[in-house]
Amino acid sequence: METKIVVSEENNINISAISEAGNIIKNGGLVAFPTETVYGLGGDALNPESSKKIYAAKGRPSDNPLIVHIADMEHLEKIVSNIPEDALKLAEAFWPGPLTMIFNKAEIVPKETTGGLETVAVRMPSNKTARAFIEAAGGYIAAPSANISGRPSPTLARYVVEDMNGRIEMIIDGGQCEVGLESTIVDLTEGTPIILRPGYITKEMLTDALNREVEWDRAIIDANCKEAPKAPGMKYRHYAPKADLSIVEGAMGPVSEKINELGKMDIEAGRKVGVIATEETASNYDCKFNIKCAGHKGNEFDAAKFLFQILREFDDDGTDVIYSESFEGPGVGQATMNRLLKAAGHKIISI
Ligand code: TXA
Ligand code: MG
Repeated sequence: METKIVVSEENNINISAISEAGNIIKNGGLVAFPTETVYGLGGDALNPESSKKIYAAKGRPSDNPLIVHIADMEHLEKIVSNIPEDALKLAEAFWPGPLTMIFNKAEIVPKETTGGLETVAVRMPSNKTARAFIEAAGGYIAAPSANISGRPSPTLARYVVEDMNGRIEMIIDGGQCEVGLESTIVDLTEGTPIILRPGYITKEMLTDALNREVEWDRAIIDANCKEAPKAPGMKYRHYAPKADLSIVEGAMGPVSEKINELGKMDIEAGRKVGVIATEETASNYDCKFNIKCAGHKGNEFDAAKFLFQILREFDDDGTDVIYSESFEGPGVGQATMNRLLKAAGHKIISI
């Protein structure tokens, strides 16, 4: 299949391309599109055949449900069986934006879209191209991240092209994604709201907006937890770079020394070494290493925005071993570390 690539920027929406994209969806085809978190791989959420095509294009297990993207609240009413009071409060505070909520689903949503579950994940993105596209497509876009299953989520259109060219009808290039990590997922079907995936919207922000306790799904904050995560997708080893990635944590000076020491041994053994550092720490490292900066130290938004891009660049560079500084921090730092830990298969070297 020939994949058409078009450009539509938030401050310059490509109306004719968006309308063509909407028609592709209505005819059962697939279109990748930009959102403020990561690129999505969109199909008609109410058409079971479209959802099947999404799983096939990604190479994704079909028990891993898709998020339904909407552009206004009227569309929410049609796909959920009830809207809890807490959902209205969170929608008021964070929609449109990087928050996904889990509801009990209405009959109209096919099981193919929800991976067989009776619940449905819904998000209203803020990216203007995404919103125009959802409207042009009839209001309901099922979209996982637009990567081949197991690869880092794409934050730039060129990575969508890398993974999806020839597999889908169209890719809309909207430039770099603002947030860079997937949305926060909160389950509202159980009484107490439970966070199933950390993201830009933090636990503190949710607690403040709801004025009540919000809990973590234990399986995602405790690596030794025996229970399966409630978001089926969180059980897979995501974001795995081809290289062997370890996180080195501790005081900055000793961390850099340790990375230099380990990296030197790798180079001697003929391996290509990559380091994930920051603008402030990059010069601490041996210049034989391939050093990439996740923005400025202490800026948790930078690390979130650049992490997936860096992991993909290391793949493209043929890097064998990667050492990363820790990006533990407040706010979105927690989500960044969640993704980095998964990418590293939880390999941590503590100094
Ligand atoms: O930011 C995002 O959320 C991006 C953009 C494209 O919107 N989408 C995204 O989709 O990250 P995906 O498919 O890569 O991740 C969706 C996650 C998976 O872990 C899946 O298991 C979970 O949401 N999920 C979807 N429906 C669910 C449900 N009914 N109950 C529990 N978890 C659900
Ligand atoms: Mg994904």
